[in-house]
Amino acid sequence: MNSTSLSLDSSLTVFASAKINLHLEVLGLRKDGFHELAMVMQSIDLEDQIEISEVNNGQIKLVCNDKDLSVGDDNLIVKAAKLIKRRSGLENLGALIHLTKNIPIGAGLAGGSSDAAAALVGLNKFWKLKFSEGQLEEMASDLGSDVPFCISGGTQLCFGRGERLEPINVSSSKMGLVLIKDPSVSVSTPWAYARYREINGKNYLSNEVDFEKKRKQLREVSWLRELGKYDPPPLMNDLQTVVQPVTPAVEQALSFLVSLNGNLAVAMSGSGSGCFGLFPDFDSAKEAFDSNRKGLQKCGLQGWCCRLSSKGIRLSK
Ligand code: C5P
Repeated sequence: MNSTSLSLDSSLTVFASAKINLHLEVLGLRKDGFHELAMVMQSIDLEDQIEISEVNNGQIKLVCNDKDLSVGDDNLIVKAAKLIKRRSGLENLGALIHLTKNIPIGAGLAGGSSDAAAALVGLNKFWKLKFSEGQLEEMASDLGSDVPFCISGGTQLCFGRGERLEPINVSSSKMGLVLIKDPSVSVSTPWAYARYREINGKNYLSNEVDFEKKRKQLREVSWLRELGKYDPPPLMNDLQTVVQPVTPAVEQALSFLVSLNGNLAVAMSGSGSGCFGLFPDFDSAKEAFDSNRKGLQKCGLQGWCCRLSSKGIRLSK
């Protein structure tokens, strides 16, 4: 590809959706030191936004509305941009990326992972690179376990480290949710997995046959195909069992959610500290949330009302 012949669009806006875990089961430890997981991940309509515009100096520059977030080489967007640029072999490519952060940081909602996915999908389009979705997913898995899911999103089974995706045909769900997070409390994902291993490592499964049995069980659960149609899904998060007892902010968020009228089920998302409650629809989530806003503020918690979403990364002009 000849970089001088590229005609670049002047700007591109990309939306990156957050996710929740409807099911997060730790099966065992892998040879690469990561945990073998069986998960159901679900996109929600809480989105960050990145706007990509052209720079001609071959630099990648990130700016963000949230001054607490690093915009240096440790930011997953910068890592993603440098990775896709390296794979393209086109050294002259540059981009200015504006990130508008709406997804809370350190919440277990894959905000950083989804931003990285947005950078891959967005720059692929912006720089007219024509990498396939499979190639983007492969780059995504080098950036983080949740990044491949964030590209296509929706409702998916995620196995392996989280990067082995199996999309499922799920009836579109009208369920709404309330998300709660203490803005002063973030949980470290490596810490949560290390703690889980410390407590449960003795009971880990250790071979592929047993892993596959667990995957099969999850593929066959009936609630997955009827999400939101009848009963609420039986939410499960193994990491919650070790994070909740030592994180008062998670305990508080869960109690708050349980107290809301009409909630169907509550759980922590990912490694926390964000928690969510499911409701039959958006309106009932909003009503419960609005009538308890004051209580939420009193506890120093932040909250959002959202819908489940069938999309991952969205591009718009
Ligand atoms: O892949 P990601 O960068 O999101 O992982 C962050 C950390 O979470 C890893 O370094 C590891 O400590 C832990 N982790 C794990 N098993 C997974 C995913 C994450 O142990 N499947």
